[in-house]
Amino acid sequence: MKKVLTGIKPTGIAHLGNYFGAIKPAIELSKNSEYQCYYFIADYHALTTVQNKEELYEYTYQIACTWLACGLDPEKVVLYKQSDVPQTFELSTILSNLTPKGLMNRAHAYKAKVEVNEEAGEDKDNGINMGLYCYPILMTADILLLDSDLVPVGIDQKQHIEIARDVAGYFNKKFGNTFKLPQELIAENVGVLVGVDGRKMSKSYGNTIPIFADEGKLKKLVNRIVTDSTAPDEPKTLDNTIFKLYKLFGTKQQTDEFAERLQKGISWGEAKSELFTLMNNYLSPMREKYNYLQSHREIVDEILKKGGEKARQIAQNTILKVRNAIGVVDIK
Ligand code: TRP
Repeated sequence: MKKVLTGIKPTGIAHLGNYFGAIKPAIELSKNSEYQCYYFIADYHALTTVQNKEELYEYTYQIACTWLACGLDPEKVVLYKQSDVPQTFELSTILSNLTPKGLMNRAHAYKAKVEVNEEAGEDKDNGINMGLYCYPILMTADILLLDSDLVPVGIDQKQHIEIARDVAGYFNKKFGNTFKLPQELIAENVGVLVGVDGRKMSKSYGNTIPIFADEGKLKKLVNRIVTDSTAPDEPKTLDNTIFKLYKLFGTKQQTDEFAERLQKGISWGEAKSELFTLMNNYLSPMREKYNYLQSHREIVDEILKKGGEKARQIAQNTILKVRNAIGVVDIK
């Protein structure tokens, strides 16, 4: 059975871009009996930016409740928090000694910040902490510790998996074959999900639709979707945000019928109202489950506790192998 592992940073509320781009495909993958999946909340990765006790605490529950409400089956998937697996941080320290500094200099997230600083005429490392700089090493530790074969990630994370593979290779070469070489699994192009302003849905554009927005908020957001100035009874092109979103939620038949009505000419107001109804029908059972879990956190705690125990067992086996390989003596 192949081991599949991925992490999500608790840095804010999940939106439809996260759902269709990462969460839904990962949940579908977990239904395949050839895979054992390990999905975790990367709370120590979030610490590079989320440095506020209440925020980190709340975001962590948000992510856990999100996975569960979107259909993750905790009997099948090991769901855990990175911070519940302290071996991660030991392995990260060990691996940092095998990672060339130059490799970190070339990592995208760090490089992007350096470029911003340089353009602004600041010192190149202005505002950059070591957590960000060593981020790929911590991620490598997550991956290698649980003996992962496949790592489903967005294209933006591809370089990190390549780094993980490189570092695993350096270790194996120096200390003998210890780690599997993990492979990234890039989600098929679901297309860029558009936000209410027609640009890519992204927190940084402020155009997102949160997965669990309540009915009133969802309606407001749908109404905010930018449309063109085609008159109500004129035919509409299908190259519009409303139709793009509709396609994600509707069955093939629903989508075909909607396309036909748009092309015949229904008003944008009517189109928005149809989109809202479809989305709301799809999302409301998930929203209910999310709200239930948020107000019954003891259920979530229990799931994360069990997941942590399972992950720690695997982690402990790996770390013993690693200690042994590098010559750290375990006193019995
Ligand atoms: N860096 C990933 C992100 O920003 C999150 C992450 C942390 C991760 N550790 C991981 C993803 C290990 C895959 C495997 O989305």
